[in-house]
This record gives sequence, C-alpha cells and structure tokens, in this order.
Amino acid sequence: MGLFDGKVAIVTGAGRGIGRAEALLLASEGSAVVVNDLGGESTGEGADQRPAQQVVDEIVAAGGRAVANYGNVADWNGGQALIAQAIDEFGGLDVLVNNAGILRDKMSFNMDEAEWDSVIAVHLKGHFVTSRFAAAYWRQQSKETGNPVGASIVNTASESGLYGNAGQVNYAAAKAGIASMTIVMARELERAGVRVNAIAPVARTRLTEAVAGDYMTPNEGEFDKFAPENVAAAACWLASDLAAGVTGQVVKVGGGIAQILQGWRPLTEATATDVWTIESINRSRDTLFAKSDTGVAPFFFSVDD
Ligand SMILES: NC(=O)c1ccc[n+]([C@@H]2O[C@H](COP(=O)([O-])OP(=O)(O)OC[C@H]3O[C@@H](n4cnc5c(N)ncnc54)[C@H](O)[C@@H]3O)[C@@H](O)[C@H]2O)c1
Repeated sequence: MGLFDGKVAIVTGAGRGIGRAEALLLASEGSAVVVNDLGGESTGEGADQRPAQQVVDEIVAAGGRAVANYGNVADWNGGQALIAQAIDEFGGLDVLVNNAGILRDKMSFNMDEAEWDSVIAVHLKGHFVTSRFAAAYWRQQSKETGNPVGASIVNTASESGLYGNAGQVNYAAAKAGIASMTIVMARELERAGVRVNAIAPVARTRLTEAVAGDYMTPNEGEFDKFAPENVAAAACWLASDLAAGVTGQVVKVGGGIAQILQGWRPLTEATATDVWTIESINRSRDTLFAKSDTGVAPFFFSVDD
C-alpha cells in the first residue's frame, strides 16, 4: 500500500532537481502524476520537452502512472490547462506541488526590467495561477458533495526570500510573497478541506551548484544531506494525510535539518497617550528595539555586484 494510492498529483518544474524528486516519490507512493516542466535554462530562457518526458518515462518504467505537461506555469491559460489535464487524464486532483523556478540574480541597482518581471512571473504568478484553478476545482467539488475534499497544496518558498538575501531582490520578493500566499490560501480553503503549506528547501541542484556546490557535496562517510530526495520527503509528508491539521505553515528542509519558520508578528510594543509625534516615537525607540538590533540579520551567501 502506498501513501498516495488512488491519488492524483501535479508537480510543476518536475523535470529536474527538487521537483523531479517530488514527482518520483509521489509516484512510488502510488499517486498518478502530471509532470509539468517547461524545460528552459536556469534563467528561464528556452524550452525543452525532454526533462518532463524523461521523468514520465522513469515513472512509467517503474510501473507508475504519469503524463507530461510542457507548459509555462506563469501563463494563465496554461495553468488552467494543467489543472484540467490532471482531471481529464486521471479523474481528479488531490495534490498540487508548486515548485517550478528560475533565478536571475542581480543587485537591485543593476537589475533590469526583464530580470525583475521574469522571476516574479515564474515564481509568484506561477504559484498563483495553478493554485487559483486548483482551488476553484476543489471548492466546486466540496460544494457539490457537501464534504471537505481532503486535498493539499505544497508551495516552494525559500530562506533567501524570508531572510532577505542580498543580490536576489526579485527572487526574495517572490518567495516572501509565496509564503504570504500560503497563509492566505490556507485560510481561504480551510472550509473546502484543502491544506496549504510551503517548504523552504536547501538542496544540490543546478540552481545552487554554481554558488554552493562544494559546500553541498557530501563528505566521505556522511549521508547526502543536500540531495533533493530529503526535500521531497518533507514535501510529500506535507501533501499526505499524515500531515492532517497542518496548514498555513512553512517548513525549512535541507542539510539534515527540518525547521518550522514563522514570520511577521509583533515583537515589542510602545503605547501612546496622545497623537504620535516624531518626538514620542523617538522616545519609544528603546522600548521598540529592546529585543532586536536595528540592522539586518546576516545570510550565508550573497551574490556579487
Ligand atoms: N535548490 C535549492 O537549494 C533551493 C533553495 C530554495 C528554493 N528553491 C526552490 O525550489 C524550486 C526548485 O528548484 P531546483 O533547485 O530544483 O531547480 P531546477 O532548476 O533544478 O528545477 C526547476 C525546474 O523548473 C522548471 N521551470 C522553470 N520555469 C518554469 C516555468 N515557467 N514553467 C514550468 N517549469 C519551469 C525548470 O525547467 C526546471 O526543470 C524552485 O522554486 C527554487 O526557487 C531551491
């Protein structure tokens, strides 16, 4: 018996890296999988059907069920067609893993319009479009049956976005947006019985090989803690009924560590007895910053100018 027997999943960007590991694990646990991948460069340029097709072939060769989708997740009609493909080919949809991503790192002062737009489109819009059409399907199902659907979305955020890595303003803005979208949609879809969570992965893939390949190579005798399969395990756990009750959460996984990340919340508080003025705000400075310094936290790698 597989954990996903009889279920239908979509994984975006599943032709390589983390998405590929997620698709293979879902399939090995019994899910039928729509393997989406545009197949372009790590910067988003170009297209190639082979990465998605190879993963489909691998799943089918192992006795599983899979079909390929070569669409761009940032395309409104393409995203709608992707959800429809799962329903048409396999009779429904239970799991949506939003994973497709690209990088175009630059310092803000050097970034051009295309670098900003393309990264925001693939990550932020690419997560929203698929989620929006999956959500509409699940809400309709839940209305028709009068029951919660028991479905799940797993988004892909990033520590880079949540902690604010220098050199990735486009990517970080998109990933922080994805973390917020995760919380909003968890609230919106609770009644329909859909859980929405995110992972913040760290894994050795073509996106990280150039900047952190050496750091992520396993040392002799160590387990491979940066293999994408580690991330896939956490994503598939979140997608499964084992994670019942878990929603609106961001789980960092990679490097042998799993953590729950939580974001914006009141940290300190000052109160006014009259209209705030610059002076009264300034008098509150020590109270407001009592528990934190006024700078930004360090991050483990950054991109050159
Ligand atoms: N590798 C890490 O350490 C790390 C860290 C934080 C976040 N992430 C995120 O994990 C996700 C997967 O990244 P990865 O490291 O496996 O990279 P990867 O490049 O190996 O895989 C990403 C896949 O997405 C596909 N893709 C890109 N744009 C697409 C589009 N518009 N439509 C459909 N498919 C598209 C690519 O063709 C590629 O196969 C990304 O969202 C990335 O930002 C990765």
